[in-house]
Amino acid sequence: MSCTLFAMKPRMIDQLDVAGRRVFVRADFNVPQDDAGKITDDRRIRLTLPTIESILNRGGSVILATHLGRPEGIGHEAEFSVAPVAERLRELSPLLRGLRLIAGRATDEAAAQAAAALKPGESLLLENLRFEKGEKKGDAVLAATLAQYADAYCNDAFGASHRTDASMFALPMAFRAQGHPCVAGKLLEREIRYLKGVVDSPAKPFVAIVGGAKVSDKLIALRNLCGRVDTILVGGAMAYTFLKALGTPVGRSLVQDKMLDEARAILQFAKERSTKIELPVDHVCGEALVLGTPTRIVVGAIPDELMGLDIGPATVERFSTILKAAKTIVWNGPVGAFEIAPFHEGTFQLVKAVVESTKHGATSVAGGGDTAAAVEAAGAASHFSHISTGGGASLEMLEGKEFVCLNALDPAPVIGYSKT
Ligand code: 3PG
Repeated sequence: MSCTLFAMKPRMIDQLDVAGRRVFVRADFNVPQDDAGKITDDRRIRLTLPTIESILNRGGSVILATHLGRPEGIGHEAEFSVAPVAERLRELSPLLRGLRLIAGRATDEAAAQAAAALKPGESLLLENLRFEKGEKKGDAVLAATLAQYADAYCNDAFGASHRTDASMFALPMAFRAQGHPCVAGKLLEREIRYLKGVVDSPAKPFVAIVGGAKVSDKLIALRNLCGRVDTILVGGAMAYTFLKALGTPVGRSLVQDKMLDEARAILQFAKERSTKIELPVDHVCGEALVLGTPTRIVVGAIPDELMGLDIGPATVERFSTILKAAKTIVWNGPVGAFEIAPFHEGTFQLVKAVVESTKHGATSVAGGGDTAAAVEAAGAASHFSHISTGGGASLEMLEGKEFVCLNALDPAPVIGYSKT
């Protein structure tokens, strides 16, 4: 299987002498929050701590930067402030108790001054990078401004590594233009290690579970997985688009009508590439996605007044049998509306099958916030080989897409430890 993605192994943060250096750490602290702004899942923050602490423990200082949500790029928007992230970082690491949040915007004079004044062991967090107009546009001028803040760049933002935002690509290029090192953080390194293994040499049978609600993104992913994997188990909202495309009545289930032709084309493409696409044969249905709605198991055609909200027991059995025989499993997207009981059941049952398969030697990788949350809610996170912090990123990596931001990092030194 050819793949340009990992043509180069990047230099790692531990291969850089950081003593006395200010390191710009691009993290992905794009974490879910409730209506009150409270962080509901801090995995991405916790898993970035080894990189940050490694720098601070070795006498470096840290300038942290991230995007959060999708603000309009027209300046500071309170609802997208990274203030809750700063608070959580201070709570999580004793080394970050004194972390300073620079209010306003990352390009304000105050941010430049704070960065210039940083001393070894100190840390600061810049405001949401997407408050800057140039961030989403990959703007070189924004990158040149931020590149003045530090003496080295570290990418630990795996979840955003499929993006070409300024801080992901133009920024390391700007650091390199100044002769400054650009390295990969520990979270990024771990993600690459696992996903590379899966992309480069998957043990067979190789099975993908693809579900979730973002139908159009996932349909493209499905096409790209054809030929790479032996079987794709389709669940979640996407399954109904496929079933409708095949002429099966799906009632009021979520369907992306614009994608029906594409769904048919993917089924044909999969056949040509010898990838089997498995669709649900039965469904747990309800009249609406609300807690307490009466449920009904429907085999085949879904009546007009019902919507499919989870895979049914026969599908669970069929998918579980396939998973138990698999040697490599990748999973992106729950197969039902798992956040509302009892529509979590199908996803939880498949988690059990993946855990069993993993116990018997399979490699299992789950990606995406919802999938990670589902696996965690099922109490099985430590029984998977790897839970990725990336949703779109992990899927695109498994599809074999090239990530230009990785090519912007320094290559790993051929032998030993480099101090430059
Ligand atoms: C994610 O949550 O998938 C990443 O943080 C990327 O966010 P984005 O899809 O808004 O670019």
